Amino acid sequence: MNRFIDIISEQLKNAFTECGYDGSKVTASVSNRPDLCEYQCNGAMVLAKGAGKAPIMIADEVVEKLTGCSLFSDVQAVKPGFINIKVSGDAAADYINNMSSAEKFGLNEPETKKKIIIDYGGANVAKPLHIGHLRSAIIGESIKRICNYAGHEAIGDVHLGDWGLQMGQIIAELQERQPELPYFDDAFAGEYPSESPFTISELEEIYPCASKKCKEDPYFAEKAHQATADLQAGKPGYMAVWNHVLNVSVADLKKNYDNLDVHFELWKKESDAQPYIPDMIQDMKNKGLLQESEGALVVDIAEETDKKELPPCIVVKSDGATLYSTTDLATIVERVKLFDPQYIVYVVDKRQELHFTQVFRTARKAGIAGADLDMYFLGFGTMNGKDGQPYKTRSGGVMRLETLISEINEAVADKMRENREFAQEELDAAAKIIGLAALKYGDLSNQATKDYIFDISRFTSFEGNTGPYILYTIVRIKSILRKYGKEPSGKVIFTGQKAEKEIMLQLTRFSEVIETAYNELAPHKICSYIYDLSNAFNVFYHEIKILSEEDEDRKDSYLSLLQLTRRVLEQCIELLGFSAPEQM
Ligand code: ARG
Repeated sequence: MNRFIDIISEQLKNAFTECGYDGSKVTASVSNRPDLCEYQCNGAMVLAKGAGKAPIMIADEVVEKLTGCSLFSDVQAVKPGFINIKVSGDAAADYINNMSSAEKFGLNEPETKKKIIIDYGGANVAKPLHIGHLRSAIIGESIKRICNYAGHEAIGDVHLGDWGLQMGQIIAELQERQPELPYFDDAFAGEYPSESPFTISELEEIYPCASKKCKEDPYFAEKAHQATADLQAGKPGYMAVWNHVLNVSVADLKKNYDNLDVHFELWKKESDAQPYIPDMIQDMKNKGLLQESEGALVVDIAEETDKKELPPCIVVKSDGATLYSTTDLATIVERVKLFDPQYIVYVVDKRQELHFTQVFRTARKAGIAGADLDMYFLGFGTMNGKDGQPYKTRSGGVMRLETLISEINEAVADKMRENREFAQEELDAAAKIIGLAALKYGDLSNQATKDYIFDISRFTSFEGNTGPYILYTIVRIKSILRKYGKEPSGKVIFTGQKAEKEIMLQLTRFSEVIETAYNELAPHKICSYIYDLSNAFNVFYHEIKILSEEDEDRKDSYLSLLQLTRRVLEQCIELLGFSAPEQM
């Protein structure tokens, strides 16, 4: 379906062309003076110079041409040469009626369907999920849903960190605590137990303890390093421990991500990329890309246009070990081999930007990423507390995700209790749904690259630009529809009300908003859209008698309009990664 704004532009282009001007240079845009008009066009200003005429003269001619056009109810030329437009309510109603019966509300399929890998989540095995990984999960999940809805095939990969020093630390610590375990007996030839020697809560205690020891005790640190190297060289007992860590962690991570309504198609890990490393390095050597620098092998990635000097990408360290960049390069090799994607999007903390610049440039130089593969680093900002510092627990520690979620749900439950009484079970269930919306909307409504202040009381407010406000709007519409007691016909007619037209015009923007959100990987565009749409609905709700309207056709039209509004809002929140309760 053509976008509404394009239909308007088309009409204007034609009018300019018919008046003898180059209509291809003309477009319409949403008015930035809603008090004066709904759409505007500055084509006359653009064309004035070439035509050797005052813009207002051109605008006058075009407006003359447009009189009687059924798409517009009012077109005016204003000085110095703007064309101010109001569209006809009937035309807007026709458009949204078509939207209502079209697949995806008339959103067009892309010209070429892309296979897109979204690398998000990025949790590290054995470390509890903390809020540092929250933004990646929330933003990545939404972007994946937007890509799919836009008609592409998006594959989410959690890309677990399972291959670093933390593994060696855990192994070393476990060995100190339970040296009798068979994993540490080099002579052991039997089968290792399938039961893990630790539970997730034990693991969560083992890891920080080991990591602390590493900082304090050089002897222990050395042991942890050695264990990491032995593990990476494939030592069977250590591999068995690593497997236990992985299984125990993944089960716990899945539960946590499920609670966030975040789901991955792939549960790949850094270790999965390791087998690709030797050939990759050999190939880079053959291509003469690797230079020696203080014993390490590096790739020079500097480019003339760089504003500051970029350090080379280290591929092999002086002690022969590979690092984070090596793994990310090999992961691209693996992804190309297994999936042949056209696009890889990394949703990672913006402080890792240099790392990804190094990886992307090296991948291009080495031919790991061909010309038909786009890579994009979507670096997000930090979630801060009210003091402007990264959000912490009251005692100043790293905040665990579970703690954060229960704090939010508590705050939501309190707000709900203020409104009316609830049965405990009902309250808990609704608070969980609303709390998730508060958390996700609070995050997604900010441009991803920016830092933002995590403010529980603002995020959980039922008023203002918040998740609960959007849900409240949906719940209110649902309740009106329930009271109506029958299914509205679905056909909207324009009855001449301003508030009604405002909802219609907001609805017509849907495709444009989704396309922009996809092109710019910007969930916040969807947030601001549903905020506008919710506001339009709430004005309508306060100004117009809906259920008490006596004219049955009008009433049916109002309810059809609300029905479509509800469907669009629900689709949008689905793309953001949350849902609405029945009541709140
Ligand atoms: N595990 C990493 C971290 O915690 C994030 C992984 C991001 N993805 C990637 N392909 N490097 O920092």
